[in-house]
Amino acid sequence: MSRTKIVAANWKMNLSYAEGEVLVKEISAGLPDPISCEVVVAPPFVYIQSLIRQTEGLPIHIAAQHCHEKASGAYTGEISVGMLKSIGAEYCITGHSERRQLFHETNDIVKAKVDAILDSGLIPIFCCGESLDIRQEGRQNEFVKRQLEESIFHLSPQAFEGLVIAYEPIWAIGTGVTASPAQAQEMHAFIRETIAAKYGEQISQGTRILYGGSIKADNASTIFSQVDVDGGLVGGASLQADGFLEIIKGAC
Ligand code: PGA
Repeated sequence: MSRTKIVAANWKMNLSYAEGEVLVKEISAGLPDPISCEVVVAPPFVYIQSLIRQTEGLPIHIAAQHCHEKASGAYTGEISVGMLKSIGAEYCITGHSERRQLFHETNDIVKAKVDAILDSGLIPIFCCGESLDIRQEGRQNEFVKRQLEESIFHLSPQAFEGLVIAYEPIWAIGTGVTASPAQAQEMHAFIRETIAAKYGEQISQGTRILYGGSIKADNASTIFSQVDVDGGLVGGASLQADGFLEIIKGAC
């Protein structure tokens, strides 16, 4: 089954608004034409609405990096998925390891966020991935399987089809150490098998599984050419137009 690849930029807490605007302008000017993959940009919340306007009619989709799981209420400083939907956001990242580690988001919390994102009609980019300790102990499959079981395997088959997964080994995020193409492929194949065991072969083959962790222009195309890798979630290297466009060309 052919799956449309996604190349998603996670800006994290970087760039001024003016820098972000220029970056999006440069990316849109350099996109392959025609383009065979989806390009997603996840800026900080406060730039989302303007960047949605800026990218109207362009093949660039805007994502949020995070959301609150509740629809509304006394949650000072938080942003609901309904709010994101109301300004035209299309995707929302959840379960990112930085949110899990620094903001104490558990599998249960991520589960509630996945539900909220799907209910609102946005597409969740659900992140999973193990720490270096867990990999060194050889427990990465068991660990990732549990993240899937506890945060997304409660979904109905129909809801599950609306989800994108990003495998991001924590030891590769922002460290300059990338999983080798073989390591990425091995985990992606494992995730796909695990989905097949739960939801069947057809849904498993249709699920997009992105890789994230120190993707750069010079390693992107090899990673993206692995059979079970359907694109990437790119942090640091998405902050420069030239490098990010090279990464996009590796997938599209
Ligand atoms: P990185 O980040 O590309 O800077 O490693 C990826 C991510 O955290 O999504």
